[in-house]
Amino acid sequence: MAPPVASEPVFRVRGGGPLEGTLRLSGAKNSVLKLMAASLLADGPVELSEVPDITDVPVMGAVLEGLGVTVRHDAAAGTCRLEVHDDRGLRPPADAVTRIRASVACLGPLVARRGAAELALPGGDRIGARSIDLHLEGLTAMGAVVERASDGVTVHADALHGARITLDFPSVGATENLVMAATLARGRTVIDNAAREPEIADLCRMLVAMGADIRGIGTPTVTVEGVERLTGVGWETCPDRIEAGTYLVAGALTGGRVRVERVRAGDLTLPLRKLADAGATVDVDGDAVTVERRSGPLRPVDVVTLPYPGFPTDLQPQMMVLLTQADGMSRCTENVFESRFSFVDQLRRMGADIDVDGHHALLSGPTTLRGATLDGLDVRAGAAGVLAGLVAEGETRVRDVDHVDRGYARFVERLRTLGADIVREDDGA
Ligand code: UD1
Repeated sequence: MAPPVASEPVFRVRGGGPLEGTLRLSGAKNSVLKLMAASLLADGPVELSEVPDITDVPVMGAVLEGLGVTVRHDAAAGTCRLEVHDDRGLRPPADAVTRIRASVACLGPLVARRGAAELALPGGDRIGARSIDLHLEGLTAMGAVVERASDGVTVHADALHGARITLDFPSVGATENLVMAATLARGRTVIDNAAREPEIADLCRMLVAMGADIRGIGTPTVTVEGVERLTGVGWETCPDRIEAGTYLVAGALTGGRVRVERVRAGDLTLPLRKLADAGATVDVDGDAVTVERRSGPLRPVDVVTLPYPGFPTDLQPQMMVLLTQADGMSRCTENVFESRFSFVDQLRRMGADIDVDGHHALLSGPTTLRGATLDGLDVRAGAAGVLAGLVAEGETRVRDVDHVDRGYARFVERLRTLGADIVREDDGA
């Protein structure tokens, strides 16, 4: 007998009026997962606050539990306490590792603290090749020996030593792994062409609070002097600029007014400027940002994704949705993930006029989007699909919502707070 088809949740969105209201957001997905991994380095508990209620957090928790970390996660309170109780494990559980890219952040801490790591190939969004060669080259320069197999890597190092490492590309994950490894290595490590994303600075500052010696935080040259040990710490996860940016784009897109609290406007300089160039009013008030657009067409703008402080690739799909509504021709260039334009097909299915040539997309607007069924999406494209549904005629169904749950806490609930016509339903029941 054929097994019953499992029902899969979908978002059903109806295009309608403007989004209006205020949201207070918690911590950044791309920070908290690395802060959790850093607990592997600590002699003592790491107590995190402003932990976002997203599904990647318990998955990362499972990765760490498999490595002898006791994880006490209180999703409602937004806290997570992590403490190593057994430091012998070298192999994070493969089923959890292959589900999220951030699991690769265990590599540096394991090698630095336990002398070896055995890692299945990390998972995450299907948005590009996402190799980890830069992580491995950096660790090799620090004295590690890497053995590659078809399904993973093994890295050994009796003792890591400092090194001068120039990254080919300012990779977020490689910078984080190498900084974490260097905190306990012998001597000085200098990482040139380091990534500067605010979430990396958050990790570095927490490591300093744990006793690490790191200079050049948030700059392209990060210098780490190895120390004997790191202690436990209490740390507040930095705000999620991508989540904030998603809601702010939604405000401009729907011709409404959205205020987001607990956001660092300085981390969103280019996205906010692009929203202003597109015709929205942007107001920064301490840790709150408001985006408003009452009338008149959106103006076309060009967007080029680049490592921070460039326009974030993680906001590119949401921005593309906005540009389908702009009056004229916009160009979008994707320089970080080669497959990120796969979302374009979904938008075309809704009626968008987009030509893709390599990593350039040319959008002609404004177009009337029609409701459609969208699927096969990653975290950001899933959220962008919902945004498209908010201004489309009729109903849009977004499948594979598990992806959205990985990065957006209470997404449907928050959009409904802003007045969106969206529900989450089980499909196929
Ligand atoms: C992180 C974020 C992701 C964001 C991205 C860029 C997490 C969990 N994810 O991903 O949301 O979109 O930064 O801001 O924090 N690359 C290599 N070799 C390497 C490493 C990377 O070729 O060793 C390539 C990747 O294939 C990709 C590009 O470099 O094309 C950027 O990757 P990277 O900056 O490392 O992003 P992630 O850390 O994977």
